[in-house]
Amino acid sequence: MCGIVGAVSTRDIVPILVQGLQRLEYRGYDSCGVAVYDGGLKRARSTARVAELMAQVNEEKIHGTTGIAHTRWATHGAPAVHNAHPHFSHGPGANAAQGPGRVALVHNGIIENYEELRAGLKAKGYAFASQTDTEVICHLVDSLYDGDLFEAVKSAVGQLQGAYAIAVFCKDEPHRVVGARAGSPLVLGVGRDGEHFLASDAMALAGVTDRIAYLEEGDVADLQLGKFWIVDRQHKPVQREVKTVQVHSGAAELGPYRHYMQKEIFEQPRAIGDTLQGVQGIMPELFGDGAFRVFQEVEQVLVLACGTSYYSGCTAKYWLEGIAQIPTQVEIASEYRYRDSVPHPKTLVVTISQSGETADTLAALRHAKSLGMAHTLTVCNVATSAMVRECRFAYLTRAGVEIGVASTKAFTTQLAGLFLLTLALAQAKGRLSDEEEAQHLKAMRHLPMALAAVLALEPQVISWAEDFAGKENALFLGRGLHYPIALEGALKLKEISYIHAEAYPAGELKHGPLALVTGEMPVVTVAPNDALLEKLKSNMQEVRARGGVLYVLADADSHIESSEGIHVIRMPEHYGPLSPLLHVVPLQLLAYHTACARGTDVDKPRNLAKSVTVE
Ligand code: M6R
Repeated sequence: MCGIVGAVSTRDIVPILVQGLQRLEYRGYDSCGVAVYDGGLKRARSTARVAELMAQVNEEKIHGTTGIAHTRWATHGAPAVHNAHPHFSHGPGANAAQGPGRVALVHNGIIENYEELRAGLKAKGYAFASQTDTEVICHLVDSLYDGDLFEAVKSAVGQLQGAYAIAVFCKDEPHRVVGARAGSPLVLGVGRDGEHFLASDAMALAGVTDRIAYLEEGDVADLQLGKFWIVDRQHKPVQREVKTVQVHSGAAELGPYRHYMQKEIFEQPRAIGDTLQGVQGIMPELFGDGAFRVFQEVEQVLVLACGTSYYSGCTAKYWLEGIAQIPTQVEIASEYRYRDSVPHPKTLVVTISQSGETADTLAALRHAKSLGMAHTLTVCNVATSAMVRECRFAYLTRAGVEIGVASTKAFTTQLAGLFLLTLALAQAKGRLSDEEEAQHLKAMRHLPMALAAVLALEPQVISWAEDFAGKENALFLGRGLHYPIALEGALKLKEISYIHAEAYPAGELKHGPLALVTGEMPVVTVAPNDALLEKLKSNMQEVRARGGVLYVLADADSHIESSEGIHVIRMPEHYGPLSPLLHVVPLQLLAYHTACARGTDVDKPRNLAKSVTVE
């Protein structure tokens, strides 16, 4: 998704801006650009990779001490150079083709009233060179500019409806960059020798500065050499703490792997080990001070999340109701935020997010709070994210930076965190015996080893992937606790291999999807040796009887053998309630190797972004 970097310095900041974009590249984008002050406004934009932008910048000898840069993920207007940011203002009477005006601006988010603003600016004589909502903000700032950029931006954002993080500079005040945010993240970095930075994620500033202030909703920040100040939504001066944060570089080494996704799949034993490290016993306080009292008090759980994180929530529902006996509702965040629901004050609202910046999940969280549900908890992979800051309690998964757009290690570490939450709630409610606690802890500690054993099945999954590469459709079946795992397997396959994949609880087959089954339809079946296995075997017969070809993940002790039309990969012995963490791994590998065989861009699948910070 879109990324922002901005800087005011005394040194040439072009390399910092472009390297910052490179660190944000993994989030997905379709064009990029940089603009600096170099006696006037200079700009380079490209629909190719950031590396091409770098080459362009070098060729055109673009240098400057003040500048802004952007990776764009198209919302308004096609992915084309003229829509790429930064945008320049074209003042009244100017012709867009005549070259830059005085204001340069980049923007993340979506402006909802841009058409109305655009009409007003056109009437004032502003010329538009793009179809973006961003150019509207640029012209709006220009129209309000009267020698003080900070004042102009403050007035401009007062007219915006929607979500934005912006970075702006003006050639008439060449040592100043102004930033503002509402609904999209923006951080301020304090560098050396009085230099200051803006970025949509602190990661963009890795190696440049680790001294970061997180701007809050409605903040406007004025960055100059040696000084900065921030005002809040009411334009009152505010202090935002400058924290020293561990800024990870996104440019992690690939090592022996072909893609980040493959690397991240293989990192799961380590990631789970790190996520559960230090868990000696089950204690609600693992989620924050005061959790015990709140866990005792809550009567239900409401999970809010999107995509893969939503599926981890769906899995957790089985644990929360089965083990902790707490009624649990799991909602897709983008739906929940807009529907009428019945709030219950004794609800524990649990958000799940890898990035901690997903706009829909954040909005759903705020909506739940506005309905009076104050007990909030997040299971999140980014300690400094808005989600962690806005929730009362948190469990940090320690997956490490996830670069592949397709989420893998974030999912399994979320499951580990959610299992822990289940046990902590059960304990607070007196529903977990010492013996059960000891058994679960033992199984959790053994997870890294069990995952390593599953990863060793990769060669067998590759042979399945060769069959899948030539297909255009696939069905995934699971039952109970493993139905969400089937959903996650289907999502992985469609997102990176572009094969249409659907998942069903196997008992639903006969109510419709069985009509799709022919010899051309591979049917992946997640078949752990649990209480539903015999029912699942009947469902598999229904598929075979219609000529469907089954690809079965069967536990070692489930007695399902390969035969005509049935391909079996034998998993380790049944792993009890934690079995979903193991069964999802071959599905991740299947999607990965199928995508490789089809030659898609595995880490950056088309149309998708890593961190979805717009609605
Ligand atoms: O950062 P989040 O976990 O909040 O992201 C939620 C979804 O956007 C994400 O899981 C998405 O579905 C992944 N691309 C799935 O692989």
